[in-house]
Amino acid sequence: MMQNLPYFAVGEIVKGFGRGSKQLGIATANYPPSVVQLLPKNLENGVYYGFASVNKEDVHKMVMSIGWNPFYNNTERSMETHILHNFQRDLYGEELRVCILGYIRPQRDYNTIEELIKAINSDIEYADKKLNDPDYDVFKNHTFFK
Ligand SMILES: Cc1cc2nc3c(=O)[nH]c(=O)nc-3n(C[C@H](O)[C@H](O)[C@H](O)COP(=O)(O)O)c2cc1C
Repeated sequence: MMQNLPYFAVGEIVKGFGRGSKQLGIATANYPPSVVQLLPKNLENGVYYGFASVNKEDVHKMVMSIGWNPFYNNTERSMETHILHNFQRDLYGEELRVCILGYIRPQRDYNTIEELIKAINSDIEYADKKLNDPDYDVFKNHTFFK
């Protein structure tokens, strides 16, 4: 799981494909296929944690869902990032930088949206605690984000 980590990615934030983070109440920043296609093929799908910045502003904690989006050709993977920061603006077209540091769990098929929301909130809680570890400061302060 950890063999490809840390993994650094940079790209434009584009619109998602439909299920709608508004429905979840959890905003996600999506990468275009060109960025997703650069992921190592053996980087397992699932939920990850790490750091993120938008337009080289402050570095924040993030959780990311990596997997197959059934709404996009069934063959394309997607990378959906939730940043642990309350942005007061729309982020479409801005540059997202992420450093993926650790794996949390596989993606699951939940029966209800409430269960999915609960799972994502527990991912956020886990990442929030985990990323306080001073061992991760080197990535938070990495030149990649400067
Ligand atoms: C941290 C995190 C964990 C997620 N875990 C799952 C999951 O286990 N199963 C799943 O079907 N979708 C999961 N998702 C994806 C959401 O379903 C997705 O973000 C939502 O449907 C919005 O998609 P859209 O931006 O393409 O509209 C997760 C998203 C995030 C940010």
